Amino acid sequence: MTVRSTARTAPTASTPDLSSQDPGWWRQAVIYQVYPRSFADADGDGLGDLRGITQRLTHLAALGVDALWLSPFYPSELADGGYDVDDYRDVDPRLGTLDDFDAMAAEAHRLGLKVIVDLVPNHTSHRHAWFREALAAGPGSAARDRYVFRDGRGEHGELPPTDWQSVFGGSAWQRVPDGQWYLHLFAPQQPDLNWENEQVRADFRTTLRFWCDRGVDGFRVDVAHALVKDLGEPLRDLGAPELSGEAALAEFAPGTHPFYDRDDVHEVYRDWRKIFDTYSPPRTAVAEAWVPGPRRVLYARPDELGQAFNFEYLQGGWDAAKLRGIITGSLADAHAAGASATWVLSNHDVVRHASRLVLPPGTDPDAWLLSGGRAPAVDAAAGLRRARAATLLMLALPGSAYVYQGEELGLPEVADLPTEVLQDPIWEQTGHVRKGRDGCRVPLPWTTDGPSYGFGTGGAWLPQPPGFGGYSVQAQDGVAGSTLELYRTALRLRRKLLDGESLTWSDDVPAGVLRFDRSDTWRCVTNLSGTTVDLPAGEVLLSSAPLDGGRLGPDTTVWLGL
Ligand code: GLC
Repeated sequence: MTVRSTARTAPTASTPDLSSQDPGWWRQAVIYQVYPRSFADADGDGLGDLRGITQRLTHLAALGVDALWLSPFYPSELADGGYDVDDYRDVDPRLGTLDDFDAMAAEAHRLGLKVIVDLVPNHTSHRHAWFREALAAGPGSAARDRYVFRDGRGEHGELPPTDWQSVFGGSAWQRVPDGQWYLHLFAPQQPDLNWENEQVRADFRTTLRFWCDRGVDGFRVDVAHALVKDLGEPLRDLGAPELSGEAALAEFAPGTHPFYDRDDVHEVYRDWRKIFDTYSPPRTAVAEAWVPGPRRVLYARPDELGQAFNFEYLQGGWDAAKLRGIITGSLADAHAAGASATWVLSNHDVVRHASRLVLPPGTDPDAWLLSGGRAPAVDAAAGLRRARAATLLMLALPGSAYVYQGEELGLPEVADLPTEVLQDPIWEQTGHVRKGRDGCRVPLPWTTDGPSYGFGTGGAWLPQPPGFGGYSVQAQDGVAGSTLELYRTALRLRRKLLDGESLTWSDDVPAGVLRFDRSDTWRCVTNLSGTTVDLPAGEVLLSSAPLDGGRLGPDTTVWLGL
């Protein structure tokens, strides 16, 4: 890592004001995703908790992020890592109490960090009071109308109502003892809510106000594109299992898939925006919507959520031309919608980018995980080098960046978790074909050794691999060139350099190189080619790997001051 004078990078007049009152604080914020059960365990039960997060907030402040987003911490059976919520307005007792949440939020705010919570409106847990009521109340009842219950097909109703498939594998319908079926786009323990039911809408308004009143600054909206479905009778079959996946959206005229990205879903978010705007500063939100670009940014319009995750970037691989096209398109889409762009390389659902970016193009991540990360073998050092370059590229882009816990340590995917420890429902639901997402959810290493590498005193709910301590915060803190120090420096510099929300590409670059200027002060160059290239003009502010005799080696990003 190379860091030189930062004196010339004093804040400009248009540097975003990240103080608590700026209504646009999120537009270019860096948001750190905490997966609570894997972050830090204060009570030694092997499961991360809210007090653990509070104790470690100084790590986030020192890193220089603007906000933290917490994946669900609500009471849950953990059938899907907490995305199966029993009660939207409480804390899982294993993770703490509402008082612990308030203490965590107060400490975050004291440190200048905003707090974003995860909202899961597409489905509840099957343990939610409403679902228990629905089962007890029987067919045709008002309680069943909050969910999507239907009679089955076949002579005795023994066949599911449609051929819709669950994202996690198998039919999206589950039969209950009285013979009816209910819809679950995810696990059977996650029954889908019926958003045509006014009680459902009203209850989520109450939940939003509940957390806004507790001081949360924003929401991440889970599966935002699936809430509203075409439930008119008769329900339509799709005709082929793969048409149930978001990847098939391109095969449908916009808004015509029976359960993804229907036009009417936007009414829900326009309604929520009215609530967000009653607070000062207005609350913000980001949609998790696996929908192609121009349709995706509709969720981010100013009268809706403000932002939507840009998964095309995450799926763009390590290819200069492809990434440039995705970046240009994403910025144009965001601009057209009046939103700010978003970038993300890792999260709790995908293979960590320190491993993913060196999988040969076309590798099926599920097959790779099934091989225990051995076919093909991945060069960890090459992966880390590429990940660092990708991160500096991401952090130079206009808009906001979402960073997933542990990527600041350069953590690779733990691809060789033994199958008997897997917790992700995907493993069972696919009949042991897909191992699922546990490999990116392994509890964080904080110290070089000791029980669970400082995660807690009582072990870790997923086993950490030997040598994990080498990635720990303790091992990297203050160490020049470490990934942790690279992130810290990059975030500090970025905050000073930010100016406007546009970039200007240079076309006069060698093949496989991306180069753009942010305003007239800051230039980013990434070498995605296999050969060393000359550096353009500019003062080196930071580079993701040591420069090669003043030239830019493969898989390296450099930030230049102009
Ligand atoms: C989202 C979450 C994922 C979860 C799913 C169902 O995609 O990110 O972790 O399994 O929704 O709630």
